[in-house]
Formats: sequence, C-alpha cells, structure tokens
Amino acid sequence: MNSLQDFQLKTEEEYREAYRKSVEQPAAFWSAIATTFRWKSPWTDVLSYDWSIPKTEWFIGGKLNITENCLDRHVETNPDKLALIWEPNDPNDATVHYTYQELLIAVCRFANGLKNQGVKKGDRVCLYMPMIPELTIALLACARIGAIHSVVFAGFSSSALATRINDAKCAVLITADGSFRGDKVIPLKAIADEALQTCPSIERCIVFQRTFQNVAWEEKRDIWWHDFIQGLSDTCIPTEMDAEDPLFILYTSGSTGQPKGMVHSCGGYMVYTAYTFLNVFQYQENDIYWCTADIGWITGHSYMVYGPLACGATSLHYEGIPSYPKWNRFWEICEKHKVNQFYTAPTAIRAIAQHPAKLIEDYDLSALKVLGSVGEPINEEAWSWYNEHIGGNKTPIVDTWWQTETGGILISSLAGVTPQKPTYATQPLPGIQAALVNTEGKVIIDQEAEGILTINHPWPGIARTIYGNHERYKATYFSAFEGRYFPGDGALRDAQGNYRITGRVDDVVIVSGHNLGTAPVENAINTHPSVVESAVVGFPHSIKGNALAAFVVLYDEVGASEEITSEISNEVRKQIGPIASPDRILVVAGLPKTRSGKIMRRILRKLAANEGEALGDISTLLNPEVVAQIKEVLAKE
Ligand code: PRX
Repeated sequence: MNSLQDFQLKTEEEYREAYRKSVEQPAAFWSAIATTFRWKSPWTDVLSYDWSIPKTEWFIGGKLNITENCLDRHVETNPDKLALIWEPNDPNDATVHYTYQELLIAVCRFANGLKNQGVKKGDRVCLYMPMIPELTIALLACARIGAIHSVVFAGFSSSALATRINDAKCAVLITADGSFRGDKVIPLKAIADEALQTCPSIERCIVFQRTFQNVAWEEKRDIWWHDFIQGLSDTCIPTEMDAEDPLFILYTSGSTGQPKGMVHSCGGYMVYTAYTFLNVFQYQENDIYWCTADIGWITGHSYMVYGPLACGATSLHYEGIPSYPKWNRFWEICEKHKVNQFYTAPTAIRAIAQHPAKLIEDYDLSALKVLGSVGEPINEEAWSWYNEHIGGNKTPIVDTWWQTETGGILISSLAGVTPQKPTYATQPLPGIQAALVNTEGKVIIDQEAEGILTINHPWPGIARTIYGNHERYKATYFSAFEGRYFPGDGALRDAQGNYRITGRVDDVVIVSGHNLGTAPVENAINTHPSVVESAVVGFPHSIKGNALAAFVVLYDEVGASEEITSEISNEVRKQIGPIASPDRILVVAGLPKTRSGKIMRRILRKLAANEGEALGDISTLLNPEVVAQIKEVLAKE
C-alpha cells in the first residue's frame, strides 16, 4: 500500500503531472491520496457537489477519527518520535517535549474527562487558551470524542468571546488562569468570567493553571484542569466519525459585524491539510517544522496541529511574541532547535526588519531549508529582506495564499520544487482550479491579466457551511459568480500563470456608476515612495453617489503636505485613471488593524462617513488608539 510520502512531489514535472491528473480526474486523484490514511470503513463515493445549494461532500460514507491518523498510527510505528516541541514565553523556562506516545496519552486522558462530563459527539466546546501544549491536547481530545471545537484567539475581548460562544451554543469552555505574552500577563479567566455572564449554554469551565494568579471561582461551574484529569485512564477509544461530520468551527470576520463560524469536516480537511503540508513545505522525516502562528487562527489549526501531525512531523510551538525578551527571539529558537521549515507572516517580517541585522547575524540559521509566508500579500521589500537576511539568498520562500474558509493552502510554490517569484503566491496546488473573472463574472482568458480570483471546482478542505447560517455561506461565497467559489481577493496573473494576490475585492465602491475596487487604488498609492501603507474606502457623496477616501500612512521623515497629496492623487490617476482618484486623502499616523494584522476598513468607512460615534466595539483591535488620532485628522479637514 502507498503511504502519503509517496505523494510528495519532488520535481516540477511531477507537480505538472499531479496537477493535470487532479483536473482531469479529481475523484481518482484524491481517492488515491486518501487511501493512505486510516479509515474505519471506506467511502462509497469520492465526491458529490452542487454549488447552487451549495453542497460539497468528499469521501462519502467513509468513517474515521482524525486523531487516530494524527496520533495512534504514528505511535504504532514510531512512539518516541517528537510530536511537539514547546518553547515557553520566558527563555529561561524549560522547553517541553511531547513524543507521539506522550501526546496520545495526554489527549486520551483529557478526552476521558470530557466524556465524564457528558460531552458527546456533536457538542460544541470552546477553547480560549494561551499557546501552550494543553491547547493542542484539548483540541485533539475534542476530536477524539467527536466534540466540535471552537477555538477563540486568546487576544479577543470578553464580548468577542461571548459572541462566539453564544453563536455555537458551546456547552464547555476550556481556558487558563492567565497567559504570558512577552512581559504582559493577560487575565484570561477574568475575561472569560465576564464573557460567561452572558453565555447561558456553558455548563462547565475547565481552567489550566499557567500563571498561578488569583482568579475568581464559581464552584458549580469551574474546575481546575489538574483536578479534571485526576485518575483518568490513558486510553480512550476514538469515536467513529463520518467523513462529513464537523471537526471544528473557526470564526472569521466578515463584511458585517457578526463573525462567520466556518465549519470544517473530518475527512476532507484531514486529507487536504496533510497533503498540502507535505508538499508545500517539502517536509522530510526528521525535520523540525516551526509555524509561528497562534492556534486561534486557521494557520495554527491546519499547519501547527492537524497537517503536521497527520504527516507524523515534529511541530514546534512558541508561546510568546517575536520581540520578547528581545527582537532576536525567533532566531534564537531557530538555532536552538535547528529549525528546518519556518513559516510566519509578512507583518512579523516587517516588524523584525526594522531592528538591527546584528540581532540575526549572531545566530546559526543554517538548518533552515524552507521559509514560508502567510496571511497577507508580502511586499517586495519584505520579501527581499526575508530572502537575504533569513534565507541567505538561497532558501526557497513559499508565499502561501489561502483562507479560514479554504482549510488549507490553495496557491503556493512547492519549496525548492516549483519556481518561486517574489510577491507572487505563484501557481495553484494540485486540485485547485483557479480562474480570474471580471466584475461581470466573465472568465478572463488572457494569461496575463488582472481580475477577481475564483475557484471553480471543490477541493477536500473547503469549509462546508457557516455554522447556523447556510444562507450567509451561500450569499458570501457562491452567489457573486455562479458555479464558482468567490474568496473575495483580487489577483494579477503573469505570462507563466503565476498569481499575485492584490488584496480584497469585496470592498467594491460604485463611484459615478463605475465599479471601483479599493485594492487597486491602494496598490497605486502604495507605489509612492513616501507611503508606508494606505486604506481606501467609499463614502456617500451627494453627486457621485459614492466617492473614495484614502487613509495614508507616510514614513516618519515625511510630513503631510499639499504637494504629497497631489503626487499621490497623480499616482492613482496615472495607474488607474482620474475616476479612481480619491476625493479625500487623509494623512494619518496608523490604520486600525485586527490582531492578525488586517486593516479594519469597516471602521474607516464609518469614520469617512462621519459615523465615528457608532463604531461599536473596537476593543478587539490591535491598535484602538489610532481611531482617536484619525478622528482628529478628520476634524481638521
Ligand atoms: O486576502 C487574503 C489574505 O488573507 C485572507 C484570508 O484571511 P484568513 O481567513 O484570516 O486566513 C489567513 C491565513 C490563511 C485572504 O482572503 N491572504 C492570506 N494569505 C495570503 C493573503 N494575501 C496575499 N498573500 C497571501 N499569501
């Protein structure tokens, strides 16, 4: 029988051949890969879909448990192999290691605890935890018994947590007394307590002791993690799941205030994350792989836990932040553990690049074989810096484009196997049929083109619905262009078929009857050498219907002036046309961002529309203080 490793593509020709097969015979292609996993019973049909409903099903009738594939399988062949290496926030504290055997035992014990509480298949369990091994353990314990986990990033506020708990009607919350992030101690339990005042569905709150700070205690509801697992068995029979049963819910922000609970399946998600992990990062048996994300985001789910563990990999997890205690921490960890694959976000790269190169040069990074980027377009400057300073101009960089909704990477080069191109995610992975369309939904045939990115065939990892709101799922992803998945991103395609993601296109503004995407306008503004970044939004205009407002951040040494504003305006006129030239160009000190580094255009839209008083909860922003500063700029307009 084949193993998944037999499906690792080692040459560009192998990639082309796999891609061809995946398009010509998608069912046969994915079925061969899926067979390498452990199934309790086989599927009767590989794929059934109808995107007018929309419905997507893979490996229909197949039964499995993802934790058997992520743990038991490897324990049988290689029990002492490291599954997790955990680096604590404080470099003076000890690294923690979990072999596959140890991880399985910890997962089973906790799963037995959940079972004792009456948690059963299909119940929702919310995890609001620091980046500690217990988060991975709790996640896998839910999957072991078929409970649906819903991880909420531990940087979210109590109201954001409550919204998510209530949306999924979670029965259990798993949290910690507090969390360490750099020199800060965040009172997670206190935040959770506040949230739980408005969460009637929660019956139990399990609390891991991480910071040993004082916490309030609700005797009937709260239980310490260490008491919870006391005396429980080391083994737990995995619950049989249907391939299409939900594995987890993960919330992503949408164009409205209410977050969307994306639901991922057990079978397709497993197959897709493992296959893409193995191929994009070209993971080899004894490699140490490190993704710097937080498990609170999809990158953490797919490429810190499920993908790597399904491949039997060693996954390094870090509790803290890149700047603690100094801006050299990432490289210190890379050297210490001889990290082979390193996967991070452009935001982190840009932040680190502002600090002296000496902080990197002191470290031996020679074990690095692959660098990865995810979460936002990587600009040329950040790409070059990453390539030179971290990769020594010789380490492949994979720029991986995907989303919470897609479950796994859709467009990326395969490290060292297929060609890379700075700032381009490059080509679709096997199984991904990408197409550019224009705003009318017509497919753009020309190879070299710019348009809206769509995917016109299902892949196993696609989210199956929005929890409790299938209509919104349909409206958001399948209604813009019939028969196509619409991710909401724009892209450029070059003569070789490489894709460069240009940004979100769902912020389209109709100006004087013309459709104007804000992303291309921003790209034009950003080419001005004095501009650090910008965000363009529409606002109501008495004559044009809508007009554009550009919020622009300039480099420190450049002040706001009429000259700069007109240069920026000319840049837009030059690159797109006078129609796209913003009516207002506002020089501001910073743009409001989510904790994952995304610009909150919704807030800017309100500010530009003079609705600054009705912003709602801005506490989940990375930098809520910039909002007041922007209001000052607007007041002086
Ligand atoms: O706009 C794209 C951007 O992030 C969006 C998805 O965000 P989220 O669901 O939070 O998932 C982030 C981690 C996968 C996409 O619609 N994005 C993600 N990766 C890239 C990217 N934009 C450009 N290049 C990327 N590599």
